[in-house]
Amino acid sequence: MFVKCYAGTLVGIEAMTIEVEVNVSPGLGMFLVGLPDNAVRESQERVRSAFENSGLKMPGKKVVVNLAPADVRKEGSALDLTIAIAILAATEQVATDRIGTYMIMGELSLDGTVKPIRGALPIALNARAAGFSGLILPHENAQEAAVVEGLDVLPVGSLRDVVAFLNGERNIEPCHAALSDEMDGNSPYGEDFADVKGQSHVKRALEVAAAGGHNVIMIGAPGSGKTMLARRMPSIMPPMTLDEALETTKIHSVAGKADCTGGLIWKRPFRSPHHLASQVALIGGGTNPQPGEISLAHNGILFLDELPEFGRNLLEVLRQPLEDKRVVVSRAKYSIEYPANFMLVAAMNPCPCGYYNHPTKECVCSPASVARYMNRISGPLFDRIDLHVEVSPVSLDDIGYNVSSEGSDVIRRRVVAARERQAARFSGITGVHTNAMMNSAMLREFCRLGAESGAMLKRAMERLDLSARAYDRIIKVARTIADLEGKNDIAPSHVAEAITYRSLDRASWGK
Ligand SMILES: Nc1ncnc2c1ncn2[C@@H]1O[C@H](COP(=O)(O)OP(=O)(O)OP(=O)(O)O)[C@@H](O)[C@H]1O
Ligand SMILES: [Mg+2]
Repeated sequence: MFVKCYAGTLVGIEAMTIEVEVNVSPGLGMFLVGLPDNAVRESQERVRSAFENSGLKMPGKKVVVNLAPADVRKEGSALDLTIAIAILAATEQVATDRIGTYMIMGELSLDGTVKPIRGALPIALNARAAGFSGLILPHENAQEAAVVEGLDVLPVGSLRDVVAFLNGERNIEPCHAALSDEMDGNSPYGEDFADVKGQSHVKRALEVAAAGGHNVIMIGAPGSGKTMLARRMPSIMPPMTLDEALETTKIHSVAGKADCTGGLIWKRPFRSPHHLASQVALIGGGTNPQPGEISLAHNGILFLDELPEFGRNLLEVLRQPLEDKRVVVSRAKYSIEYPANFMLVAAMNPCPCGYYNHPTKECVCSPASVARYMNRISGPLFDRIDLHVEVSPVSLDDIGYNVSSEGSDVIRRRVVAARERQAARFSGITGVHTNAMMNSAMLREFCRLGAESGAMLKRAMERLDLSARAYDRIIKVARTIADLEGKNDIAPSHVAEAITYRSLDRASWGK
């Protein structure tokens, strides 16, 4: 007998429908065709054993399983349950009347229990788009898939559950998405800018960065609070929109991360890869391609702590995604694209000993070793960082517990207002939402400097010996500062502040 069941497979962060066809005919053996990878091929053994331990029968006949379309590579073990049900249906152990209306997915363990899969959210979105009335999948993935409305998400714990359901012997309640607190406007972040005492100029720089979507680097002595400040960046960024939450959750779902098993991710991601991370871990890829840290940071922050410790090659490969906001993983026969629109926040010590420019401690590094330390980071990467902030250790006057500082929600409100001005400015331009994304034509159009501001920038460039590449950056950042103030025109004070954020460009650094 011939039977068809349905499942999904991942292509990048999207899913497509797979038909699992089973034909049972006289003869012996089980044959799996249609470009399955090793994990799928091994599913024969898991299915066989799961049948045995669930009181079900493997037919003593020839079983051919075809995965269609044949030219799409199917990865992983998530098709185990689909294959098992199709075989059971083809041997009349399961009723066939409803199997065509459900997409069925899950990995089988040898005892017949089902184990979670990757990518439940994109698979659910695809199931709805393809017109299925429901999706049968493991308990662990149910919340993640249930955010898709108009689709019955039926959580199951074992092969026997599915058989009993399809045979009409038991009912399974569809899972409903739990409403998250974040939807009520509560901040989902535990850490707050108010925890950081003093450092008002660094906080201000981070506010400017968040407002304009600018990449930022903090340079300062050990223990000055760089890591602490960076961790709090997501809390001052605008709340995620539904589209952003969906896309971010899809990426985490495809990567099999646990943070999406509770439903949509409403928190802006903060990813802090170690400097010894491999290129694949950072960028994505691998034999079974998966999103890397830069994609997991999509719509959030990629924090590179101790930047010079990252290998030069590792930093070089960041350049393309920083420009394109996405990464393409190429394989011999196909290529996959993952979104990677993140804000880069980096931190570093100013020199090997950490005390260059320190107010009280003596730096023991030679000028040459300070320069060498800086040189570990390639110029083109620096080129993509709009703001440089020097972080001095917090003064003892500021550290007292009765010193209050501004909380994240106050700062976030200003950031949101500045983002709204930018959204209005770029409303007709696709793919550009923030000042940081402006190209040079837009820079000329939206950031005209008045005579006074222009003269001032020219003077500062000469006096501080700023490099030419600093010029555009300063204007972009000045635009954001004006937006934070709610001004249409860039005033000299905005330019003056923007100039303070170019400390690494000064030719005198390290001399
Ligand atoms: N401004 C501050 N307000 C409150 N606590 C602070 C502040 N600055 C530093 N600290 C305390 O010092 C600790 C060390 O800070 P942090 O790890 O952020 O420093 P760092 O600049 O990243 O240092 P390193 O260069 O060694 O990585 C923090 O966990 C915090 O307890
Ligand atoms: Mg640190």
